[in-house]
Amino acid sequence: MKVSVIGSGTMGSGIAQIAATNGHEVCLFDSFDGAIKNAEDKLIKILNRLVEKEKISDQEKDDILSRINFSKKIEDINGSGLVIEAIVESLEIKQKIFTDIEKLVDNKCIIASNTSSLSIASIASSCEKSERVIGIHFFNPAPLMPLVEIIPAVQTSSETLNNAKSIIDSWGKVTVIAKDTPGFIVNRVARPFYGEAIRIYEEGVADFSTIDWAMREIGGFRMGPFELMDYIGNDINYTVTETVFSAFYFDQRYKPSFTQKRMMEAGYLGRKSGRGYYNYADKIPGANKDKKLGRKILWRILSMLINEAADALFLNIATKEDIDLAMTKGVNYPKGLLAWADEVGIKNVLNQLEELYCEYGEDRYRPSPLLRRMIKNNKTFY
Ligand code: NAI
Repeated sequence: MKVSVIGSGTMGSGIAQIAATNGHEVCLFDSFDGAIKNAEDKLIKILNRLVEKEKISDQEKDDILSRINFSKKIEDINGSGLVIEAIVESLEIKQKIFTDIEKLVDNKCIIASNTSSLSIASIASSCEKSERVIGIHFFNPAPLMPLVEIIPAVQTSSETLNNAKSIIDSWGKVTVIAKDTPGFIVNRVARPFYGEAIRIYEEGVADFSTIDWAMREIGGFRMGPFELMDYIGNDINYTVTETVFSAFYFDQRYKPSFTQKRMMEAGYLGRKSGRGYYNYADKIPGANKDKKLGRKILWRILSMLINEAADALFLNIATKEDIDLAMTKGVNYPKGLLAWADEVGIKNVLNQLEELYCEYGEDRYRPSPLLRRMIKNNKTFY
C-alpha cells in the first residue's frame, strides 16, 4: 500500500521514514521551496547515523530512500491507501488541503491528520466522504517515540478506525484510541506536570533545580518539568497549554501561567535559544536535596496528574489501559498514573486534592468525581 505524507517538517519527515522503513512506497510532499530538499538531506543524515550505529545495513538505507518520492507536486499522492497530513497547525489551511487531497485519491483511501490541538471533526468536515478521516497523532521524534494516539471523529467509520489502527500497529507502534477532545490523552493528562510545577515555583516553595530534582530522583521521571519545558521549547509548551485552556472553555484546571508566558516573550525558549528556565551557558544551579521537601513537591504534582487521568477515564476519553499506556509510551512516565494511584492509595490522593482545594479554594484543585466514587465503593483501578 502506498502511503503519502503531506508536509515534510519535523513530524512529516519522521512519519515518512517510519512508513518507508516498514516497506511502504511513500510520497513525501511539501509545497515550500527548500522544505523537500531539507527533508531529504536530513533523512540521509539520520539513515547514515543508523548505519554507523549498525542499526540498519547500507542496503536497508538505500532501500528506504528508494521507496520515498520527495515531491513538490501534490498530484504524486495519487494511488495512496493512506495519507497523513502534517502541515502547519491552522484549521483553515488544513481544511483546504484535505479538500485538495480528497480530489486526488480514490474512495477507499484513509485521510489522517497529525494535529495536536485541532478537532478532527472540524478537519473531517472539509471532506465529502468524512467517514474516511481520522486523527493519527505521533509524538516527537516520531521514529523513536512508540506511542500513537488514534482519534476517530464523530464522522469516522468503524472501518476507517480499524484499518488505521491495524496499519499503525503493523509499524510496531503502540496505539491508543482517544476521544476527539482537546489534547486527546497525553496533552490533556500531562498539563499539571508543567502547570503545578510552575505554580509551586511561583509560590516560592522551591526553585527550578529543586523541583526538577524531586521529580527525577524521588518520582523516577526521566526529566524534571523545567528541564523538559526547556527541551520542548517554552513557546511550544505554552501554546499547547493555552490552546487546551481555551478549548476547555477556560476551565481553571488548565490555566496557563505568567511565568511561562514571560519566558516565551523574553525569547527564553529553552535549549534551542540557549536559555530558558536555565541558562545553558552557565552551570545549572544545585538543588536543595531535602527529602521531605522533595516528597511534598512530588506528591502535589503526582496527585494532580492522577486527578487528570481519573477525570479522563470518568469522561470516557479512553480506557484505563490506554490512559496508562499513553503516559508511559508517549511521555516516558515511570508508571501509568492509574496504576500509580492504586499503589499509593486512592484515598491518599483524594485527601491531598481535598487539602489543596480547601486551602486555595481554586477550581484547579477540584477532585474528579470518579475518585470520590471509587473510595465510596471501596474500588481500585486494576
Ligand atoms: P513543521 O513546521 O516542522 O513542518 C510543517 C511543514 O509543512 C513545513 O515543511 C511546511 O513547509 C509544510 N507546509 C505548510 N503548509 C503547507 C501546505 N499548505 N502544503 C504543503 N506543505 C505545507 O511542523 P511540525 O512540527 O512537523 O508539525 C506538523 C503538524 O504536526 C502540526 O499539525 C503539529 O501540531 C503536529 N504535531 C507536532 C508535534 C511536534 O512536536 N512538533 C508533535 C505532534 C504533532
